[in-house]
Amino acid sequence: MPPIPTPNAIPLARLPTPLEQLPRLSRCIGVDLWIKRDDLTGLGEHGNKVRKLERIAADALAAGADLLITCGGIQSNHCRATAVVARRLGLDVHLLLRGERPAVPEGNLLLDTLLGAQISWCDADAYRHRRGALLAALADEAQARGYTPYVIPEGGSNALGALAYADAAAEVAPDRFDAVVVAVGSGGTLAGLVVGPDIGPLHGVAVCDDAAYFTARVQGIVDETNLAFGRRYSGASSWVVHDAWRGPAYGVADPPTWSIIRRAARLEGLLLDPVYTGKAMLGLSELVANGTIGGRVLFWHTGGAFGLFGRGHEVSAS
Ligand SMILES: Cc1ncc(COP(=O)(O)O)c(C=O)c1O
Repeated sequence: MPPIPTPNAIPLARLPTPLEQLPRLSRCIGVDLWIKRDDLTGLGEHGNKVRKLERIAADALAAGADLLITCGGIQSNHCRATAVVARRLGLDVHLLLRGERPAVPEGNLLLDTLLGAQISWCDADAYRHRRGALLAALADEAQARGYTPYVIPEGGSNALGALAYADAAAEVAPDRFDAVVVAVGSGGTLAGLVVGPDIGPLHGVAVCDDAAYFTARVQGIVDETNLAFGRRYSGASSWVVHDAWRGPAYGVADPPTWSIIRRAARLEGLLLDPVYTGKAMLGLSELVANGTIGGRVLFWHTGGAFGLFGRGHEVSAS
């Protein structure tokens, strides 16, 4: 069988991101803690999403698209990164956001607004049941307005996005850790690390929904990626999703999560967010405390710092 060609990528992220040690947080948590700084992939487009968008946007341009359409929560990092990338490439962008338009935009929504994204709003119920259909309807409507739209799934979590994280794992390999911990929101980042070269046992920390849901979702993206692009790497990493640190709801952080966010900031000058990376770091510290992981541990920082803005009350109280 002829080899499956590697899909193109547009260089949009600052890569490779640094791999650093966290000496004071290591002592505090009781483990040899390292960090992969995907919070440094850029500024407006910072975080894990821009890695996925390097491949997805290349596919959109190859398809002749002049409008990117995608969806997420009101504070979606993926939507904000898509808006930045669209503008960097001279494209228009239309976001379907779950929630109600606030009087004053903050955090990621502030940037979506600054970037001039077209925004459609929908309530949580409609979003949960019909997001695919809603995106398709937006694409039809855009086509009627003369656009060539390109629809990106929630979180950029498809085979192209996962392949980007397989390549990200190659930035760490052949180094291998005793455990690698990463936040799981739509599953594509963990799926990519699963498909990529073995960098150690992978521990996904769900930020919403339960482990069964995400295990099926991640496996689905892994299968889709292997089907589309073949096994480029060994894909030998073991993986598991934990759901004990998702807190009360998506986007809602409990006091222990705020506590670890504060500790990371004060011990290392490291910015974690209350939606994703704060929950993942809390999971890491408790997995160490209960003996599930230990030794040399890698925390994969996936960005999200704009999620801190607009949370002043919680930061002051924490
Ligand atoms: C900052 C941040 N970290 C982690 C994630 C989770 O990544 P994934 O959606 O690929 O599971 C997301 C998005 O969902 C995110 O915005």
